[in-house]
Amino acid sequence: MSGEFTIRRAHADDRDALYAVCLATGRDGGDASDDFEDPELLGHRYVGPYLALEPELSFTLADDGGPCGYVLGTADSERFYRRFLDLWIPPLRARLAVPTGDASGWSADERLWAELRAPTVLLPKDRENYPAHAHIDLLRRAQGCGLGRRMMTTLLEALAAQGAVGVHLGLSPRNERARGFYHALGFREIEPEREDRETLLMGRSLQGIGSAGH
Ligand SMILES: CC(C)(COP(=O)(O)OP(=O)(O)OC[C@H]1O[C@@H](n2cnc3c(N)ncnc32)[C@H](O)[C@@H]1OP(=O)(O)O)[C@@H](O)C(=O)NCCC(=O)NCCS
Repeated sequence: MSGEFTIRRAHADDRDALYAVCLATGRDGGDASDDFEDPELLGHRYVGPYLALEPELSFTLADDGGPCGYVLGTADSERFYRRFLDLWIPPLRARLAVPTGDASGWSADERLWAELRAPTVLLPKDRENYPAHAHIDLLRRAQGCGLGRRMMTTLLEALAAQGAVGVHLGLSPRNERARGFYHALGFREIEPEREDRETLLMGRSLQGIGSAGH
């Protein structure tokens, strides 16, 4: 696929393609399609709520093959997760069966659905300085040519314009590439509010973004 890439606000029509990006990058940056029976579950957790609750902070990367990446975020993580539970989850409840019995026997779908109903959110210990958070995923055809930096810069500028003083994000400690990318964009490891071996938190200040450049 050749073509020009464009970054634009996400449309409601992008939903299916962006859910597919989420699944194609959902296993430590690689394809998670074999991990889930329901291909939409990961998108319900990491894409849908941002498109619905934070449309001003949802950006799509597209080329002539269609949407091939996203960067999504919120300026106020605590408010976002409250609205996630109050507004985003209730309509899904009717569609997804509640897992029962011993959690150690649950499938990946059941574990994720349980997680959706009661997200195990990991916030920074220093919430005041990192109130915003972000997610970015690009399909392979868009990776490694500067588009991640452009996408993240677009979001950081939008977060700063909304008054956020800093941003954090969580990643798998196994995703070395993402860690290198975030480091190149000025993120550093920050202390989480509690121990979590499955998630590494990184954060950066938004001071000066959108004014003196970055
Ligand atoms: C991680 C990801 C968003 C990076 O986007 P990208 O377009 O591939 O990265 P870019 O080409 O814009 O690179 C931006 C900078 O990061 C640096 N970088 C990228 N990968 C790096 C690595 N492994 N180690 C060190 N630096 C790295 C680049 O050298 C570049 O630096 P520069 O701008 O100073 O020259 C993208 O590869 C991706 O979506 N991967 C799959 C999904 C994923 O892992 N998402 C993150 C989940 S937490």
